Amino acid sequence: MIQFDKSQIFIVTGASSGIGEAVALLLNKLGASVVAVARRENKLHELREKAEIPENIYIEHKDLTEDIEELPAYVKALREKYGKFQGMAFCAGAGVLEPLRLANYEAYQAMFNINYFAPIFMLKGLADKRNHQPNASVVCIASIAGVHPTPGQSCYAGTKAALINSMHAVADELSSTGLRVNCVSPSLIETAMAGELEKQYAEGKYPFGIGHVDDVANMVVFLLSDKAKWITKQNYIIDCGAF
Ligand SMILES: NC(=O)c1ccc[n+]([C@@H]2O[C@H](COP(=O)([O-])OP(=O)(O)OC[C@H]3O[C@@H](n4cnc5c(N)ncnc54)[C@H](OP(=O)(O)O)[C@@H]3O)[C@@H](O)[C@H]2O)c1
Repeated sequence: MIQFDKSQIFIVTGASSGIGEAVALLLNKLGASVVAVARRENKLHELREKAEIPENIYIEHKDLTEDIEELPAYVKALREKYGKFQGMAFCAGAGVLEPLRLANYEAYQAMFNINYFAPIFMLKGLADKRNHQPNASVVCIASIAGVHPTPGQSCYAGTKAALINSMHAVADELSSTGLRVNCVSPSLIETAMAGELEKQYAEGKYPFGIGHVDDVANMVVFLLSDKAKWITKQNYIIDCGAF
């Protein structure tokens, strides 16, 4: 059984809803402390109200794209406030289904900022040995789109493929510091991000129905725990066998 103690502190981005919220709640239930990061402070307070051990949830509201180059310093500041981190689940992200004819450079850049550059620069901060415990673990939520892109995902699929490949590269670089780095790539999960269009496309595709946030959170928390101490540089697809 996976168990943490409150001295094991994890950064969870995107903790205000969906997959990030589920990861934060599960880590908390299993005894860990969570620094919950997202823009909507009210939703982070709601997260704390739902938590089994609310005093172990620390709220940090922030737009992770407002100054991406400053993110390593942000991680350092969080470490000075809370202590060395046991790891991070980077669950913040954005995505829309859009055909190439509507491609807009600014919107593409914005999507790359939150889905790709923000996790890279948060990891740069965490990778500094002064900021993490030995045997720490990082999990980034990528997407099935990063491996099996479908129409309308020209930008989103690019952000997630780039993330998966970069995490693969840095996993080797960071193993000497004791950090494990993995991705989890879900397909359709019932969250605010799963639009009606996606659900229509998914009709009949998933033998066990559309995924639930806990289906992803269980895998993420396993990878963050020492039960996964021999697992790094992987991308785990959770797609109900659909792709
Ligand atoms: N749902 C799916 O079907 C699915 C499938 C594959 C992959 N994914 C991936 O899973 C991850 C989580 O998505 P979700 O489905 O849980 O969607 P969600 O419920 O919409 O959650 C997205 C989270 O990202 C945070 N976020 C977005 N922009 C941010 C920013 N600039 N700064 C800080 N936080 C920001 C949001 O918080 P605030 O708005 O409060 O900032 C929210 O907590 C994403 O990377 C997504 O690409 C989802």
